[in-house]
Amino acid sequence: MLPGGCKWIPFTVKGDDRGSLVAIEQARTVPFAIARVYYLFGTRPGIVRGCHAHRALSQVAVAVRGSCAMLLDDGRQRQTVRLADPAAGLLLPPMVWHEMREFSADCVLMVLADAAYDEADYVRDYDRFVELAR
Ligand code: TYD
Repeated sequence: MLPGGCKWIPFTVKGDDRGSLVAIEQARTVPFAIARVYYLFGTRPGIVRGCHAHRALSQVAVAVRGSCAMLLDDGRQRQTVRLADPAAGLLLPPMVWHEMREFSADCVLMVLADAAYDEADYVRDYDRFVELAR
């Protein structure tokens, strides 16, 4: 079991002799309606991103190319997973502190989210996060 209800979502890969295709549908492939898609790319060596939790936002992260490590922390338990498979997404429920590092030079990390960008939804202080998580 991953911290905070995080879980892997395996995607169905449609493949034939031309290559592979993954389709992600809201409420079917991912357990929410998709309001926003963003992706990280061109990440510089040694950089750490994320370092926050969300109060209400649910997200699914997919390394559509390359790989990165993601630390997951629910305030009690922490675990690092590696995103390296374009055929699986990582569900990140609300109130999971996450940090991404060790991006490969070619990494494209796509994130599907159930709400528009809202700075008020971010918890950026780790001690505050632990207080809120308890
Ligand atoms: P930031 O939150 O620092 O990224 P990360 O948590 O991955 O390190 O976001 C970088 C910038 O992009 C910051 O100015 C906020 C902006 N941003 C948006 O405008 N919309 C979005 O959906 C996201 C995720 C970030």
